[in-house]
Amino acid sequence: MDNRNNTIAGWVLFAGICALGLTIGSGMVFADRHPEKEGYPIEDSEAGAGGGASAVPLPNLLAAADVAKGEAVFAKCAACHTINSGGANGIGPNLYGTMGEPIGQGKAGFAFSDALKNVGGTWDFENMDQWLTSPRKFANGTKMSFAGLGSAEDRANLIVYLNAQGSNLPLPAAEAAPAADAAAAPAEGAAPADKGADAAAAGDKGGNGAPAAAAPAEAKK
Ligand code: HEC
Repeated sequence: MDNRNNTIAGWVLFAGICALGLTIGSGMVFADRHPEKEGYPIEDSEAGAGGGASAVPLPNLLAAADVAKGEAVFAKCAACHTINSGGANGIGPNLYGTMGEPIGQGKAGFAFSDALKNVGGTWDFENMDQWLTSPRKFANGTKMSFAGLGSAEDRANLIVYLNAQGSNLPLPAAEAAPAADAAAAPAEGAAPADKGADAAAAGDKGGNGAPAAAAPAEAKK
């Protein structure tokens, strides 16, 4: 009898362990699928779209930027900011002449967050571009509750507009057209083919003229 009871108790215990194991095991399997994205999908998607790094360097975007378009983009800011000379601070500080000023120190009577005050530096073009891409990434803890502008062109237009309101910093020099690098790369890529041809037939030197002639065609891309 005792033996039988022990056996039964043993099976019950074993079944319990199996059940527990299954629970833990399935928990591990399914737990992973749960929160793929938590928090604030709006900011995530903005940051993803905006992620900043545009293919075109900022100085080139600024050189091509349009103040009037920037003024239109500023509509997104006007709920919180004035930008006229001597304009009142609102939810955000007045932005007249902000380009070139120290970050987060600017306007008399506006209480900046410590997060922004402690960034340091001045509002140059690069800093402003990063701030407008994602204020929260630029100054974690900022009280400017604005997700950011995903479009690099929008940011560039807006920045030249901001700059035109009392700052007028000289625009950074546009970088040499990246097309020059693009043209150089295929030319180098063609080199091994030339060498191969040379090795195969040393007398074929004249053939080098052909790849050289092809290079300008690639440069047109
Ligand atoms: C919801 C309100 C709100 C919106 C919309 C908003 N801002 Fe702000 N902005 C603020 C607040 C609040 C601060 C102060 C941030 C801090 O102290 O952390 C601020 C700070 C700034 C600063 C820093 C100023 C300085 O002197 O250092 C700049 C520049 C700025 N905003 C530009 C913009 C631009 C450009 C837009 C539109 C794309 C915009 N903001 C949209 C509320 C806003």
